[in-house]
Amino acid sequence: MKISKRFANVGDSSTLKITALAKSMKSKNIDVAILAAGEPDFDTPNEIKDAAIKAIKDGFTGYTPVRGIPELLELICEKFKRDNNIEYKNENIIVSTGAKQSIYNVLQALCDEDSEVMILAPFWVSYIEMIKMTGATPVVIDTALDNFRLNFKRIEEKITPKTRMIIINSPNNPTGVVYTEKELRDFADVVVKHNIYCISDEIYEKIIYPPHKHYSLASFNEQIKNLTFTVNGLSKTYAMTGWRIGFLGGEKKLVEKTLMVQTHSTSCTSSISQKAAVAALKTDESVAGKMISEFAERRKFVLDFMKTVDGVGYIEPMGAFYLFMDFRKIIERNKNLFADSEALCTKLLEEYNVAVIPGGAFGAEGYLRISYAASKEEIKKGLTRINDFIKKHI
Ligand SMILES: Cc1ncc(COP(=O)(O)O)c(C=O)c1O
Repeated sequence: MKISKRFANVGDSSTLKITALAKSMKSKNIDVAILAAGEPDFDTPNEIKDAAIKAIKDGFTGYTPVRGIPELLELICEKFKRDNNIEYKNENIIVSTGAKQSIYNVLQALCDEDSEVMILAPFWVSYIEMIKMTGATPVVIDTALDNFRLNFKRIEEKITPKTRMIIINSPNNPTGVVYTEKELRDFADVVVKHNIYCISDEIYEKIIYPPHKHYSLASFNEQIKNLTFTVNGLSKTYAMTGWRIGFLGGEKKLVEKTLMVQTHSTSCTSSISQKAAVAALKTDESVAGKMISEFAERRKFVLDFMKTVDGVGYIEPMGAFYLFMDFRKIIERNKNLFADSEALCTKLLEEYNVAVIPGGAFGAEGYLRISYAASKEEIKKGLTRINDFIKKHI
């Protein structure tokens, strides 16, 4: 078998792998608690579905401009202005097949084989593999050493003439950490000082728990705005994961190049989903608000439960819908039974029927991530089983 060198060491997505395995166990009537997927368990709101049905009935089923339909681009510009204090015009925007594709497009358009791209661990699983797919080299900064906050000395030490780009993600998947305005302003200064590009992945922007607040990197000044691609999407906020709508905003000329990647690979995203996206962005705040309040309740439920659990540390989530738990001590004590977080998660799934994601996949060995984008019953069942496991192995 001959495959491209670029793909030789690209790994699978353990999030999708574990979720698929857990779902197949469930289809065999095994009572698995699935706390793995980064996917809201809510159905897409009806007014959004209705817009898609109307699009189909109206015959709005052909190709659209690659960048997206003007109506949607305008709403995205309004959203960026209203929520993020960033002025973009339609020419600064690309609508793509999920935020995932927006990130992929930027990396493909901007990276060379000898480029370095910095990511902050723990990181979303796909960043590192997407970087490898461009032929560039991922350079990892371990934020676990700094209580998951930004350490500029560590970042600047690893910047070289080859550094093309840095990816930042707040609220963060998997930790739920939200960076403060001060941290982000200082980060912006570093990016501008070294003149590197930046992807600011803000997909969890709306799922944030007071008093924490979201700040957009590109809103601080013109210089950082011109270096930053602000990536967002509808998957998490509107329970629209399967509709595949993501978007980015960025400097016009860079966006034009990025658009070429999409033009020659997938063209526009689905015309029907774009009409659904128009409806989503027009909904009253209460539509997403209801789901966000439910996440806040589940978060409280998880944190109350965790007060009864001894033996593992965790980060109190400030945003997103994940709890990142520290199993390093347990792994250390039980090395003969499970050598790493992946072996631990396999054991949890096969023997305790609970699906969670190993920290190793996020560049944080010894940790594991649970998702509380699941019903309270499912969360309770899963956490109880995890607690049984902890009690046995502590
Ligand atoms: C941090 C982060 N960025 C981007 C995405 C991609 O989302 P989508 O492609 O569904 O818009 C995800 C999805 O899990 C994510 O967690």
